[in-house]
Amino acid sequence: MMANETYIQVVDLYKSFGFKKVLQGLNLDIQRGETMVVIGGSGSGKSVLLKHIIGLLTPDSGGVFVDNQEVGRLNEKKLDLLRRRFGMLFQGAALFDSLNVEDNIAFALNRHSLLSPGEIKIRVTQCLEMVGMPGIEKLRTSELSGGMKKRVGLARAIALQPEIILYDEPTTGLDPIMSDVINNLIREMQEKLKVTSIAITHDMVSAYKIADRIAMLYEGRIEEVGTPEEIKNTSLPIVRQFIRGESSSTHQGVIQ
Ligand SMILES: Nc1ncnc2c1ncn2[C@@H]1O[C@H](COP(=O)(O)OP(=O)(O)O)[C@@H](O)[C@H]1O
Ligand SMILES: [Mg+2]
Repeated sequence: MMANETYIQVVDLYKSFGFKKVLQGLNLDIQRGETMVVIGGSGSGKSVLLKHIIGLLTPDSGGVFVDNQEVGRLNEKKLDLLRRRFGMLFQGAALFDSLNVEDNIAFALNRHSLLSPGEIKIRVTQCLEMVGMPGIEKLRTSELSGGMKKRVGLARAIALQPEIILYDEPTTGLDPIMSDVINNLIREMQEKLKVTSIAITHDMVSAYKIADRIAMLYEGRIEEVGTPEEIKNTSLPIVRQFIRGESSSTHQGVIQ
């Protein structure tokens, strides 16, 4: 299915905040073109891991390598160049309320691309089509539902044609139908754009749907990595407890 080429490598990563040990020797390899989903309880360090991958946090020891460059050791200019290869869908979509949809998506294009205003308009149109929301350029972000905001956030994340897309809790706060729309879009991004993706989530329905492989973060390390099938059939008690507990609480959420 994919060439076995390690693209992102997390090596023996340690990070504490004061006395709180968050990452304690975390190792994880992500192959080019795959979608890796990192699962783990709330507060287990999933977002902290993502922030090390884009260089928003620096490790206490160990490191993250992206395409053989050590993220924590790059100077500002090189880090900036590396970050342009990432698209990020933040937890709350993080749109600018004062800008309409078009200007939100065009924001990074205006700053970081050499496209003309006409070319930027075309790119915005294409990105909105890609996420299944053509023609909403002029809507204000305050007029959008939660699911629409996520989709505009995704359109913005893909505008600079990233090689890597990071998703922080892409389905949190969405109803099951909208979650499914987002899950399908994440698969589509991988198939159409051939991107490498890392998603962090505690939603097992979403994890099984979008992942090529799933890694469970527990007590600062990766407890197990495997395909969705392997994780479903895990023999490790910690992993079994998490995936069962979480998927049953997700279903309760549906009934409410
Ligand atoms: N900048 C920070 N300063 C201090 N503590 C932090 C910081 N970022 C995260 N933490 C702590 O690290 C732990 C892991 O956080 P996080 O990665 O956000 O968890 P999650 O797995 O829910 O995404 C939490 O206890 C959080 O309070
Ligand atoms: Mg988080």
